[in-house]
Amino acid sequence: MSLDRIGWAVDIVAPQASERLLEIGCGHGVAVTKVCDRLVDGEIVAIDRSAAMIAAAAHRNAEYVAAGRATLRVAELRSFDPGQRQFDKVFAIRVGVFTRGDPKREFAALARLLKPDGRVFLFHDEPSTHADEVAAKLDAAALRHQWIVEAQLAHAFDGGEIACVVARPPSSP
Ligand SMILES: C[S@@+](CC[C@H](N)C(=O)[O-])C[C@H]1O[C@@H](n2cnc3c(N)ncnc32)[C@H](O)[C@@H]1O
Repeated sequence: MSLDRIGWAVDIVAPQASERLLEIGCGHGVAVTKVCDRLVDGEIVAIDRSAAMIAAAAHRNAEYVAAGRATLRVAELRSFDPGQRQFDKVFAIRVGVFTRGDPKREFAALARLLKPDGRVFLFHDEPSTHADEVAAKLDAAALRHQWIVEAQLAHAFDGGEIACVVARPPSSP
C-alpha cells in the first residue's frame, strides 16, 4: 500500500527518539502527531503563520503538547525566534514560499535555526505536476543561496506526486 504524502514525508525525515525538530507551516498538525509518535525525549516545535492553523494543530496534539513533546507557535519562518534553540532537522511540507519568488530570507532563517550538522527537508507537490519538475524548483531555490543539496526524492500518492529535497547550509561541515 502506498503511504500518504505526510506519512512518506515523516518517514524521510526519520525523527530519532531524542532529536529536536522544527516544522514550518504545520497546518492542522498531522505531521506533528506522526513525529511525536516516534519521539521519546526529543521535541518538535511547529510554526504556522495562521493562528487558526495553530489552534487546530494544538487541539489535535493536545496530549503531546501537555507532555512537552510538541510546542506550537504562530510565527512566520523569516522572523521566527526560537530563543536558545537550534534544530537537528527542519522540514516543511507543501509550503509554497520555497517554490515561488526568491526565498532569500527564508533560507537565511533556516541557516540560523539549524545546528551545525543539521539538515533541511523541503517537501512539495503541485497539481498535475511531476515530482521531478517540483524538485527542480526546490533545488534551484536552495542552490541560489549556496545550499548543498544532498538528495532529491519523489513519491507517488493518491493525489499526485510529491518531491523532497534534503539540503544543508553553505557553512555546514
Ligand atoms: C498548504 S498548507 C500545508 C499544511 C501542511 N504542511 C500540509 O502539508 O498539509 C501551508 C501552510 O503553511 C503556512 N505557511 C505558509 N508560508 C509560511 C511561512 N512563511 N511561515 C510559516 N507558515 C507558513 C500556511 O499558513 C499554511 O497553513
